[in-house]
Parts: sequence; C-alpha cells; structure tokens
Amino acid sequence: MPLNRRTLIAASLSITFVLAPLTSVFAASPAPAKGEHGMVVTAQHLASEVGIEVLKKGGNAVDAAVAVGYALAVVYPNAGNIGGGGFMTIRFKDGKSTFLDFRERAPLAATKTMYLDKDGNPVKGASLNGYLAVGVPGSVAGLEMAREKYGKLSRQDLMAPAIAYAKDGFILKQGDAASFAGSADRLAKDPAAAAIFLKPDGKPYGIGERLAQPDLAASLVAISEKGPDAFYKGAIADAIVKASGAKGGILAKPDFEQYAVRELKPVTCNYRGYEITSSPPPSSGGVIICEILNVLEGYPLSYLGEGSAETVHVMVEAMRYAYVDRNSALGDPDFVDNPVSKLLDKAYAKDIRDKIDPFRAGVSQDLMPKGFGESKETTHYSIIDNDGNAVAVTYTLNGSFGAGVVADGTGILLNNEMDDFTQKPGVPNLYGLVQGEANAIQPKKTPLSSMSPTVVAKDGKPFMVIGSPGGSRIITITLEAIVNVIDHGMNIQEAIDAPRIHHQWLPDTVYIEPFGLSPDTEKLLAGMGYHLDLADQTWGQAAGILVGGKSLAEIEKGGGARYNGAIDSRASSGEALGY
Ligand code: GLY
Repeated sequence: MPLNRRTLIAASLSITFVLAPLTSVFAASPAPAKGEHGMVVTAQHLASEVGIEVLKKGGNAVDAAVAVGYALAVVYPNAGNIGGGGFMTIRFKDGKSTFLDFRERAPLAATKTMYLDKDGNPVKGASLNGYLAVGVPGSVAGLEMAREKYGKLSRQDLMAPAIAYAKDGFILKQGDAASFAGSADRLAKDPAAAAIFLKPDGKPYGIGERLAQPDLAASLVAISEKGPDAFYKGAIADAIVKASGAKGGILAKPDFEQYAVRELKPVTCNYRGYEITSSPPPSSGGVIICEILNVLEGYPLSYLGEGSAETVHVMVEAMRYAYVDRNSALGDPDFVDNPVSKLLDKAYAKDIRDKIDPFRAGVSQDLMPKGFGESKETTHYSIIDNDGNAVAVTYTLNGSFGAGVVADGTGILLNNEMDDFTQKPGVPNLYGLVQGEANAIQPKKTPLSSMSPTVVAKDGKPFMVIGSPGGSRIITITLEAIVNVIDHGMNIQEAIDAPRIHHQWLPDTVYIEPFGLSPDTEKLLAGMGYHLDLADQTWGQAAGILVGGKSLAEIEKGGGARYNGAIDSRASSGEALGY
C-alpha cells in the first residue's frame, strides 16, 4: 500500500477537508437539458411535457408536480399512481421548506403477525401480491393538499392532461412497452388488471400500440370534480373495500375515511457548505443520506478520486454504519422515537470515522444485528420554476404495478407497500434481508421508506434537485449524485449516469454496477477484505436539476444555463425538459 494513501486516509480520520473539485471528469454522457424559466425531469416523456406546459401557463413548481403526479399514474402505471403513496419535498423561493408525507398507512385491521403462518414463518408472497399486501393509499390526498396549500391553479386544470391520456390513450414507446412486458404474467392473474394492461389475446401492449384506460379516466374525472372525497369517501373507496373483502384483504371504509396527510419538517444537514433538505421519518432517506455525508465530509473525496479504491472504501464503510442505524432505529414518527438529532450529529459522524480501519473492510456481523427490506420499483421527479421554487417528489406502488390488483370499475392499480414493513423481526424477509422491531406492523402505521426527494441549496439559493427510485438503494443513488457533483466536479448528467456502488450492511457485499470499477480497483478492494458483486442490475433512475450551470466548474465561471436537467440514461422512457 503506497505511503501517500496511508498518510492521507489516516490523516483524514481526524481532519475535515473542504476541497473544491479539481476538474470535471470526462464521462460519456449526453449534455443536460437547458432551461432559463423552468425545468421538469420525470421518468416518462409525456409526463415531463405535462409538467412543462403547467409551468408555461403560469403554474408554479407545486402545480407542475401535482399535474405530473396524476399524469404518471396514467402513462407510467408501473410506479406512477393514485393507488399508492409518496413524499414531496418543497423548497420555496424564500428559502423556507416543507415536506408532505402522503405515504400509505397500515389498515386498522393490520397485525404484527399478519404475514406469518401458524408456525410463525413468513408466507411467501403474502405481503407482495393481492389485497392483503395493500396499504391505505395516500397519493390523491397528498397531491390535493400540495395544490390547495402551495399551488396556484385549479384541480380541474391540473388533472385535465391525465384525464385526456387515460380517456384517449397514449402510444407506447420502447421504454413504456418494456415495463408492461416484464409484468404481464403477474397482471394476468387479476382479471381487472389484465383487462386494462393486456390485450384480448393476453399479450402485453407493444411499441406503437395505444393504451387507453377508460375506468381510470372515470375515477380521475370524479376526483377532479369532487376532490379527494371521491376517492376516500365515495364510490372508489367502496369498490376497493368490496374487492378487498372478496379477495382476502382487510381494507375497510374507515381506513379511507381516516387517512390524513402529514406535513413534516424536512431533515436538513450541511455538507461542505451545501445545505441538504430531504425526507424525515417515516422515510429513512434524508437521515441516512445526511449521516453518510457527515462521515464522508472528513475524507478528501475530491483528491482521492471518483471510483478509486480509497473512495469506495470510505463510502462503503460510511454506508455500512449508516444502514445499521437505518435498520434498527428508524420508523414511523407517530409510533417510534427516532434518534434523528443523534444520527445527524457531526460528532457522531466523527465517532464512526474513528472506528473505520483505513486499510481494511469492516465486518457487518460485528455491528448491531438489525435489518430492513424494500422493493425496487418507485419513481422520482424533479421540478423547478421561474421563481426558484424547487419540488422533489418520490412516490410509488412499491413493486412494479404494486400488488397487481385493480378493483372492478376503478382502473386504479393498488400498492403492495405493506411489504416495506418488518414481517418478522430478526428473520430475513423474502429478499433475504433482516428487519427491525421499530418497523413492525401496527394499525395506521406507515412502513419505513428509503425514498429521498432532496433539494440542495448553496448560499441561500437552490443548487440541486435530486432523487431516484431503487428500493434500499434510493439512499445511495441520491447520495452518489450529490457527491459526484460536489466532490468530483461532474455535470448533472454525468453525476446521474456515473456507475454506482452500494452497500447496505447486510448482506455484507459491495454491489458494483457492471463496468463500474476497473479490474485493478476491484483487486485492491478484494485485497482489503471486500466481497464484491458485479452482477446485480438494480440501479434506479435518478432525475436531477442543477442550477446556474451544468457543473460546479460552469457555475463558478458564471456562464451556464440557469436550469440544467438530467434524466438517468438508465431510464428508458424519461425526459428532462426545460424552457
Ligand atoms: N417502497 C420503496 C420505499 O418506500 O422506499
């Protein structure tokens, strides 16, 4: 091991480095989209157009986020939804911020052991498929609260594009068709879902074909005319409760009647002079991103270099410690006393740095034995308007197409968010992950999430809007985009496209995106004691905006576009649109 590396890493354990990025790396990424008045980045190109049109006709970023939320429910039904839930982080033009939690809640009849058999073992698939997997949806209440409190336009105006796409249909492009093809077998099991998403011959819709969703259009019209009561107190809730009762679920009318959005204070932290604003519990996202950033602040990442063994080592160790905390300590704030201030304390980060061996991989089994489990299908979008209001939304059905069920006549796909709860504390779940007691199932409780809609500010001005799907990897995907911009000098598209690494405490494996590291680097890491997995393919689809230039270098020169948008090159149907 070279002496300079020993010296640097050992020194960095006790010294906080604040280094400006050196030069931009030369990754092979397309140029970010540019805009002077607004930017909308979503995982589906038609939804991005809907958002940009709202901005052009005078809506603010919250209006655009509401319209996009409804549009994605139609044109991106694998994750966009009104039958699921999510989070919205808003940073207003005056620098204030807020957070809307419209994630699903457990039904009143839910119990801690509802997914266990008589011997106390998890029943395979019970928390993933069918009505028993469904949490009480929050998206309609959340989007309406955002619009009412912080938007400018009418509900009818914002829902009209979604209604039109549902009624008239939309033509599938390659990226759209791929998601249907991958879930055809599952959708075929529910006659109402199959009738919408499969053709009469049972095959999924393909490229160039039109998908219309008349039942969903009717549900959206009812919500547009009557507001959330049409969903929570009217015929839609009745239909879902009826289908649930008939097909093994436990949803009841009071679950819908009692659903309430929570407006929470976002989590904030400071990383090398940048102010991060992100999701508080019931998401682990903001807390764990901040905990990892606090640890990383003590290392000269810019000097160590993107993708070097040294950088990967300290990032993995920071992730290992932070994910133990995530898995053992965090849960719904109405049920669990979350130690947020301890986890965000810079002194706590230093304690973690002190425990990291500069030359050897840590051992997960030596840390506290707690865990978590999550699915990988979600969607994130980022929006900024002409006034500088920035909105980051991550919302989800959990699994692709959620629980794979639609109540007759509603056209609404329902989530399988109950799978994000601990099914049996201390026992690996269906993904082989170990879960903690703080996230155990209780009536009206919200399962712990990793969704991390994040806004970064610098000197009181918006700097970056960022987030991603990716289950437990949402946290590291969002974190790495931030680090790639701030420490490695990448432009926003490069930062999002750059190969990723991930570690989540258990399994004690460093996941590395294929071709992410050189063989030499892999050998160095293996020599330090790391077990590497280069085969896994789940790497999310980040959507980001950088303000004032496409990269820090361009911002510092003062010559960049005002808004620079990037959709992940991994997202086959997405688009960043500016104007
Ligand atoms: N279901 C993914 C998450 O909430 O993190």
